[in-house]
Amino acid sequence: MSNFIPIRFAGTGSYLPEEILTNDYFEKILDTSDEWIASRTGIHARRRASKDENTSVLSARAGEAAIKDAGLSPEDIDVIILATATPDHPFPSTAAFVQHRLGCTNAAAFDIGAACSGFLHACWVAAGQIQAGMAKNILVIGAETLSRFLDYEERGVCILMGDGAGAVVMSKAEREGQGILHATLGCDGSKAKHIWIPAGGATLPSSKTTVSERMHYMQMKGRDVFKFAVVKMASLIDEAMEKTGLSPDDLKMVIPHQSNLRIIEAARERLGLPAEKIAVNIERYGNTSAASVPITLDEVWREGRVASGDKVMLLAIGAGLTWGSMVIEL
Ligand code: UT7
Repeated sequence: MSNFIPIRFAGTGSYLPEEILTNDYFEKILDTSDEWIASRTGIHARRRASKDENTSVLSARAGEAAIKDAGLSPEDIDVIILATATPDHPFPSTAAFVQHRLGCTNAAAFDIGAACSGFLHACWVAAGQIQAGMAKNILVIGAETLSRFLDYEERGVCILMGDGAGAVVMSKAEREGQGILHATLGCDGSKAKHIWIPAGGATLPSSKTTVSERMHYMQMKGRDVFKFAVVKMASLIDEAMEKTGLSPDDLKMVIPHQSNLRIIEAARERLGLPAEKIAVNIERYGNTSAASVPITLDEVWREGRVASGDKVMLLAIGAGLTWGSMVIEL
């Protein structure tokens, strides 16, 4: 997957729900502390969707901003690819609701499920379609309403996650050299139950028992995932540097999935980069799964920390376990 793909991010957007849950909130409902959460994860706050918001609402807000930023109208979008682990319903796809909400009347629409690395999977699919001439403008969204799937009695998980959405419009490159220089995706399905929701699907449909046993909530083997993530981040970084022939100094910014500040710090140390070259917002938003990379990308772009011509690396690891990395010249 190291062939050059001439695409560009023509526009970016993001949306974060208004309600802010700080660590104090969890101190009141659980046996935890601001000190534990901040020092073990780097998180100080996260957002929670209002009762009128769901994944398609968050997605549409981010998508609308990205389409506007690209200078396009909804009818110009050929495909909507939505990465989410927290769909509005088992079916139809959440992307179908987004397509209608945005008025993207010419767009095909479907979801991708690869959890925290879902946005990278969606970008990879979109890039291939554009390169093959099958589509011109693809709206790629990463969005989650994780708060609906959290057990607020499970202190090892609920303190980590937040709601939000980020989006990009992907189109053909406008100049030589602009595009994906390197992309890797992967999965180790033997670890599929490391992060999962046991019930509510075809294996274990909803019943009184599954509800009373709290099996519709997200469960995670935190320590195992942590160790896996640190090792995998390092190998993704080494592989990207080797395949592209770049050195970390050539990167303007590294945008990692915001899962734990200690995992992000391990990646930064591996690259030997100064703090300003690694994008971090976990302290404000927590882990927003598939939304985390596009929200962060939108933020650094808006802040002027990256611009057209810069090389950036995107990195993510999540449920599946799945992973992805991309080096892109913007
Ligand atoms: O985005 C998808 C990928 N997800 C990740 O990358 C998450 C990776 N995992 C992690 O970030 C960390 O493993 C956690 C933040 C989830 C947990 O941190 P940890 O340092 O690995 O803690 P632990 O699970 O090993 O637990 C250590 C202790 C335990 O107590 P004992 O058994 O040592 O007495 C836990 O019960 O910390 C306890 N603990 C807490 N204490 C206070 C777990 N959660 C909390 C909490 N407040 N919220």
